[in-house]
Amino acid sequence: MTELRLLLATTNQGKIREIREALKGLPLKVFDLRDVLRGGSYRERGRTFLENARGKSLYYSRAWDGLTLAEDSGLEIEALHGAPGVHSARFSRPEPSDEKNIRKVLRLLRGVPRPERKARFVCTMVLAKDGKPVREFRGEVRGRIGLEPRGSNGFGYDPVFYYAPKRKTFAELPPGAKNRVSHRGRALRKLKRYLAAAAAAAPAVRLRRVPRRAPSGRR
Ligand code: IMP
Repeated sequence: MTELRLLLATTNQGKIREIREALKGLPLKVFDLRDVLRGGSYRERGRTFLENARGKSLYYSRAWDGLTLAEDSGLEIEALHGAPGVHSARFSRPEPSDEKNIRKVLRLLRGVPRPERKARFVCTMVLAKDGKPVREFRGEVRGRIGLEPRGSNGFGYDPVFYYAPKRKTFAELPPGAKNRVSHRGRALRKLKRYLAAAAAAAPAVRLRRVPRRAPSGRR
């Protein structure tokens, strides 16, 4: 098996932790932007998670000798017509933080009854090489926005994302349990299968590329 070099095109520590953990056991040397970031950084301008993930992966893969994985993810709340969506990280601009983002969501949902607090996390990943997309992976998980934050694990909106099958918020689940059911965990399992096959086949088989257009504009 060939060892592949994989750059995680993110500086988000929560994501880096979860992705590294999920990819353990593969013949991969994993780097993240702290290892390579010298020049400029990519500014997200996409209207969908997929556009952002594509933009990031292509941008960083041009300056990286190996595979690049970019991830864009976020929370979509039904009662807020899909917000915060692609603005999840910066929802409480101008000086966003996880705590302020959560406070804003709870404020906007004040008075909204439990059954109408439906939400989902979406994760899109794009693997790229030499400025070209190689493959895309997607995962989502459905839940509900709680009435108050609970738990201290995870990151972002985890304390208010109530996952009914476990009767807990994501922040109350141990990391392994979150990864088994989360949007990122689902996308990562698909990525992992793909990378395991690529490592077993490399260098005899070239990585396949995806077509340039998004499949039916899904987010
Ligand atoms: P971006 O993909 O870096 O633009 O940011 C995604 C944002 O969505 C994060 O900063 C979080 O606010 C939120 N988010 C994405 N995935 C998760 C998760 O697994 N738990 C909690 N919040 C998440």
